[in-house]
Amino acid sequence: MGFPITTLVSIFLAVATLVVSVAHGDPLVPMLCIFGDSVVDVGNNNNLNTLIKSNFPPYGRDFVTHKPTGRFCNGKLATDFTAEYLGFTSYPPAYLSQDAKGKSLLTGANFASAGSGYYERTAQIYRAITLTQQVAYYKEYQDTVVKMVGKDRANAMFSGGIHLLSAGSSDFIQNYYINPVLNRAYSPDQFSDILMGSFSTFVQLVTESVWVGGEEDWSDNPTTNWMFASNHHAIWGGSNQCVGKLNQDAISFNNKLNTTSQVLQNKLPGLKLVVFDIYHPLLDMVIKPTDQGFFEARKACCGTGTIETSLLCNARSVGTCSNATQYVYWDGYHPSEAANQVIAQDLLEQGFSLSREDCTRYLIQLKQSSSFPLLSSINTYEIDGYFWLQ
Ligand SMILES: *[C@@H]1O[C@H](CO)[C@@H](O)[C@H](O)[C@H]1NC(C)=O
Ligand SMILES: *[C@@H]1O[C@H](CO)[C@@H](O)[C@H](O)[C@H]1NC(C)=O
Repeated sequence: MGFPITTLVSIFLAVATLVVSVAHGDPLVPMLCIFGDSVVDVGNNNNLNTLIKSNFPPYGRDFVTHKPTGRFCNGKLATDFTAEYLGFTSYPPAYLSQDAKGKSLLTGANFASAGSGYYERTAQIYRAITLTQQVAYYKEYQDTVVKMVGKDRANAMFSGGIHLLSAGSSDFIQNYYINPVLNRAYSPDQFSDILMGSFSTFVQLVTESVWVGGEEDWSDNPTTNWMFASNHHAIWGGSNQCVGKLNQDAISFNNKLNTTSQVLQNKLPGLKLVVFDIYHPLLDMVIKPTDQGFFEARKACCGTGTIETSLLCNARSVGTCSNATQYVYWDGYHPSEAANQVIAQDLLEQGFSLSREDCTRYLIQLKQSSSFPLLSSINTYEIDGYFWLQ
């Protein structure tokens, strides 16, 4: 299930119209499109014939609407915070939901599906949406946008937007480690190589389709395509022990992801591919929870806090905590909203530290806005009118 597995119920139209008070005007980028697994799914699985869902209580109890949406969390996902930080006043709607229509499509969409991953079979086993199918939906979505606003505006939107991908963890946790056929056939290293093949294909397909200008070849257009891919996070076992071997595999996978990203950047003109590290922020919270204001890092909030995820984490689960703000994990697998906020802050710093001075200036605006108190801890400084991250 990736790490936060997620799903957004189509009925909660409220999300599309949700207004987050951001102190500034236009978003920093025209569009945000999201792909991947449960870490970022906001409800695409709700109406699928899959067991990997979370559109029932107690999921969503601390969300803006206090309703389950299909997010695998008590509240917001890291990418929800990211959308807010970028200045969007709504979250990219789940592409398969009722929310994905009209104007709400003009600032992005979410194609992610809990249970999906780089390995097509992972998604197929759980009847989730494969990454290939997510890209197919993305292209269909582009056609819709072109019909709505024309090619020029569509090009500005897609080439100037951000594409964000979260995958990898579910391929190991929900497939490789529990699938004897797979783990007999491949070593973790070989399996990682297979996943890298799929990652490369994905990046290539999306990059090449960012320019929707018809005959003009995308490679002739000097567009910058920002793409962000999160790596494989650290894993904690049900026995509340850091599972050393599994984390070794995660580190090795993450190294390959770095190398592959470099190769892709060299090969694809205009591509700015950033690998977000979610491994270390999460590991830090688990190892030193009190540093970030957490008290419980070993046990999840939902149920007994050891295994309950998806259907097992439900309104009848016994032992669910009443207040998840000091828990790192919401369910047996997915971080709480509070942890997601810390991860999102880290992602923001990582993204901005790689980019222009304007971004830091923007970050300072965000810090000064009372909407994001947590960001005030990010160290920025100014020298001769230029702004830097510490
Ligand atoms: C990947 O590269 C980034 C930036 O160079 C680095 O901070 C990170 O530690 C690397 N990750 C791994 C797993 O090597
Ligand atoms: C949960 O706990 C935090 C601090 O521990 C507190 O600020 C917050 O008000 C609590 N929320 C609820 C719903 O009790």
